[in-house]
Amino acid sequence: MAATTEAPRITGSPVYPLSARVTERGHLEIAGCDIVDVAAEFGTPAYVYAEDDIRARARAYLDAFRARIDDFEVIYASKAASFAAMCRVLREEGLGIDAASGGELEVALRAGFDPRTIYLHGNNKSDADLRRGIAAGVGYVVVDSFAEIERLERLLERPQDVLIRVTPGIAASTHSYVQTGQLDSKFGFGLADGLAERAQAAVRGSRHLRLVGLHAHIGSQIFELEPYVRAIEALAALAGDDCRILNVGGGLGIAYTAADEPPAIADYVDVKVRGVRAVFDPVPRIIVEPGRSLVGNAGLTVYEVGTVKEIPRVRTYLAVDGGMSDNLRPMLYGARYEALIANRAADPADTLVTVAGMHCESGDVLVRDAMVASPSAGDLLVTPATGAYGYAMASNYNGVLRPPVIFCRGGDARAVVRRETYDDLRSRETE
Ligand code: LLP
Repeated sequence: MAATTEAPRITGSPVYPLSARVTERGHLEIAGCDIVDVAAEFGTPAYVYAEDDIRARARAYLDAFRARIDDFEVIYASKAASFAAMCRVLREEGLGIDAASGGELEVALRAGFDPRTIYLHGNNKSDADLRRGIAAGVGYVVVDSFAEIERLERLLERPQDVLIRVTPGIAASTHSYVQTGQLDSKFGFGLADGLAERAQAAVRGSRHLRLVGLHAHIGSQIFELEPYVRAIEALAALAGDDCRILNVGGGLGIAYTAADEPPAIADYVDVKVRGVRAVFDPVPRIIVEPGRSLVGNAGLTVYEVGTVKEIPRVRTYLAVDGGMSDNLRPMLYGARYEALIANRAADPADTLVTVAGMHCESGDVLVRDAMVASPSAGDLLVTPATGAYGYAMASNYNGVLRPPVIFCRGGDARAVVRRETYDDLRSRETE
């Protein structure tokens, strides 16, 4: 990477929250909150979100639909960041919600969602999950297997609306771990093998399950729009009177680095609406369930720089006080992130470093080959775009405490999830 004398671009960067800027003191600021002050108040590492950014992206989805169609719903795929404050913000914006487990269902209910706006997902829902969903009165169960259809039928004592999860046989270009639309998938019922049709028949023939629609999600962090069209075309083979709801999943990619150029939310919505209109008559209610594109760029992680280890002619490791326990994505998917010294955000990014975590694995690298302002211990390092699947996939590896979640709005910062404590960890041990 070439050395540069320029300060990194923050304002207008697609990677940072919309409100991000560099203050006169040279500090990174989001939603009117100086990240140096936020770190001083809440400690590091911390997940920090610009609340208005989440709201703006939710509105972008709703506005894009409103401009095109009357009967639609945008539901938040809460797996991207499942905690009550986040879900509440999206509920206030008028979104429904998808829960992929009993735990996510619990959070959605706690966040005050009308159960009728909840979609219960999962390829292996337990009886307990199904019972909890039924007892709560979730609007929709997205059934994923014949065994589940039978179990749900057994557990129900009244009608339950269900959607059938279909794997339409489309492989979108993204990391194979997050492809879900291809026939060889643990999710849902295949089209090509006729299982989706058989699932429709099984639901239609059941006593309590009421078929109201279809669901397909072809994968995540997808930049092309064309695979969605092909998936929708494939689903049309299953169209019928009882396909009143068509949930066409989430999946819109986001910018993790300035080199990423994902489609705009409006273009993504446009393609899905057009795609459905082209092949479904009558046009069912169209549902999308985005996660990452609602919350990913709204959040960042702030760390403190500790050891800076320079290996002459090899590389300089800059170690921070977190790592794979708060962001597994670089290790799991080879995901790329940017890095910024937040307390000197206007300084030229002239030093090549590899940002390493504090875990006892050489693979615990957050950003390989990042250009940052010359770092020293005590600096604050930010990795932007960690708002989706960061907190959600955090662990206690090496006994590390999970960071707090801070929401910033109009210059005020508040902890919506506090930092974990050693007592929290100890409280689960029984001996
Ligand atoms: N609907 C279903 C059924 C899904 O499985 C997912 C994501 C979504 C919606 C939301 O997709 P999104 O809009 O966020 O792309 N841990 C991975 C991502 C796994 C996504 C799983 N399913 C990562 O960090 O990239």
